Amino acid sequence: MKGIQSVVKGTPILPILQADTVDEALDIARAVQASGLKNLEVVRRTDAAADCVAAIRESLPDMVVGMGTVLTPEHAKEAVDAGSQFLVTPTLSPRLLDGLMSSGVPFIPGTSNPADILMASEYGLKELKFFPAHLSGGAPMLKALSSIFKDIKFCPTGGVSGDNVGDYLKLNNVFAVGGSWMIPSSDVKSGNWHSITQKCEQAIAAFKE
Ligand code: 3PG
Repeated sequence: MKGIQSVVKGTPILPILQADTVDEALDIARAVQASGLKNLEVVRRTDAAADCVAAIRESLPDMVVGMGTVLTPEHAKEAVDAGSQFLVTPTLSPRLLDGLMSSGVPFIPGTSNPADILMASEYGLKELKFFPAHLSGGAPMLKALSSIFKDIKFCPTGGVSGDNVGDYLKLNNVFAVGGSWMIPSSDVKSGNWHSITQKCEQAIAAFKE
């Protein structure tokens, strides 16, 4: 199975989409795609999440769509059944890791401290989410972790913004960054799809700097 880095290769920016309806999700996904970004995480926090994944897969086949907020093996199965091409979790447990490992798709398990990271590395996992990144110590914490876990790379998520994304992207142990800052609910509610495209373009520019 391909690792998660194959999902985010190219531009390692992972926008996080939360939508109440399939139509809303498609509008958001089109706005993200217009920026040139191809990856999208749909969070499993609304009843529409699985339908949103399926609809984006069908309508925008060039996008790579995953499901976030996966907490159980059952959630992982539902997500894959809906067409999710990768899975993201906010935290981990042995039961959840077993479910992820048998899901058949790349995944990023969530960690927030050295104990979590050790558990994930005991499963042979080397690409992890760091969540909630800002509240868990942000870029300075990731820098400190790099001297302990030399072969682990992170996707910080949670509190990443247009103002601090560059601080994360310049760390050697960061392989991607994720967040909802490119898709603020204010833009979604007002239908300001162009603003979402612009925020994604700004994140790409931060990566290229
Ligand atoms: C997540 O699901 O990873 C977080 O909710 C994203 O956090 P953010 O909204 O602060 O970007």
